[in-house]
Amino acid sequence: MKRFLYILAAIILLAQFIRPSKVAEPVDPASDLIALTKPAAEIEGLLRVACYDCHSGQPRYPWYANITPVNWWLNQHIKEGRKHFDATTWGTVPAYQRDHQAKEVMEMMEKKEMPLDSYTWTHADARLTDAQRKLISDFFAAKRDGSWDVEKARRKAAGEIK
Ligand code: HEC
Repeated sequence: MKRFLYILAAIILLAQFIRPSKVAEPVDPASDLIALTKPAAEIEGLLRVACYDCHSGQPRYPWYANITPVNWWLNQHIKEGRKHFDATTWGTVPAYQRDHQAKEVMEMMEKKEMPLDSYTWTHADARLTDAQRKLISDFFAAKRDGSWDVEKARRKAAGEIK
């Protein structure tokens, strides 16, 4: 038993040398959601505190992000999160993608699926009230231009999606 624990400790120690590189991209004012759309201070604060850690190229890493395997788990969230909604590339993607992302954010606010529960456990300031969810949702509603609906109809007609 003792020997098993020593081996386990050695594996955990050695694993600390296997770390993913952290995401830290420069902010491009011509593309970043907040830089481009200049939301009211309250909304900007909510986006930075509750969304940017997984949906941008500038996540703030907590101290435990240095521990393997937590770091891999966090990086996976950022990778997956940005695939769906990325504040950092907001200004450079096609208009219909922006429209689609805005629609999805509104959906997430309504269903209360974002921010992830695993995040709000450790980030109390990211627990959103209904009023805050509405602020975020209304902000994105005003960003919609309907171009996703047009693109979706085109894809349907072309048989690319059902
Ligand atoms: C802890 C990381 C994390 C935080 C914080 C977070 N998200 Fe996400 N988000 C994810 C991940 C991971 C996915 C992709 C997988 C999924 O849908 O669960 C995702 C998916 C999404 C999607 C796409 C949903 C879909 O159906 O495709 C939207 C929109 C979104 N998040 C918006 C937000 C908004 C807005 C906030 C802030 C209020 C936020 N997220 C906070 C990790 C996060």
